[in-house]
Amino acid sequence: MDRNMTEDIQHSNLTFKEVLRSRKSCRGFLDTPVTEDIITSVLDDAKLAPSNCNTQPWETHIISGNKLRELSEALVRENKAGRFSPDFTFDVDDYHGQYKERYFNLGQTMYEAFDIKREDKEGRKEISDRNYTFFNAPHVAIPFMPSFGDNVRVGGDIGMYGQTFLLSLTAHGLAGIPQTSLGFFAGTIREILNVPEEFKMLFGISFGYADPNSPGNSFKLGREPITSNITFHQ
Ligand SMILES: Cc1cc2nc3c(=O)[nH]c(=O)nc-3n(C[C@H](O)[C@H](O)[C@H](O)COP(=O)(O)O)c2cc1C
Repeated sequence: MDRNMTEDIQHSNLTFKEVLRSRKSCRGFLDTPVTEDIITSVLDDAKLAPSNCNTQPWETHIISGNKLRELSEALVRENKAGRFSPDFTFDVDDYHGQYKERYFNLGQTMYEAFDIKREDKEGRKEISDRNYTFFNAPHVAIPFMPSFGDNVRVGGDIGMYGQTFLLSLTAHGLAGIPQTSLGFFAGTIREILNVPEEFKMLFGISFGYADPNSPGNSFKLGREPITSNITFHQ
């Protein structure tokens, strides 16, 4: 199919509100692949994300099939050896106060869903390591970004792109999960995909069809009411 001819691909008939409210991070995929024309349709949606000065600073790689297996093997190996190669620092110990509480709450919800006890360190690690087999997803999207200044603004652009991509997945009846854990191995991923060093990476997005029976999909994270974090001025 012509990659520029995806206008005829139908979205599901969810309303915008339904798309927003049904999107959630998927941690268990069926191995059913997504057709090339549907992937192209999602990419056609994602490219509509806004960006600073319309720079559109995303160079997205879609990895499937044998290449995905090769990538997973490399990530599992590097993770086991503790050979991290991130482009940007990330330390959950930087979270404090209410942000730390929410981070703990996510962990607790997730480990309960997988029936892992808090003191079971090995069990917790096993769940977290599933990031590197992409929770069984048949595809991963990695939006690489050119480096500009301190990269804060381009990082914001990539975030907007990521959310547009995720919402489009939902609208197509698909599911996805953004993964900072993939960014811990940006150097390894670049090497395997033959991406030049000047393109940086924040996160990848594993995607495909959600496995409705996976414990990883048995919960939905809540949000604070807007009264707690919105200030109106007039
Ligand atoms: C940039 C970004 C990176 C994330 N990285 C991971 C990750 O590495 N592994 C993971 O299991 N979840 C990851 N998540 C998913 C978050 O935990 C999830 O978005 C949050 O708990 C809210 O849940 P929801 O997406 O289901 O609404 C990430 C989310 C974002 C936005």
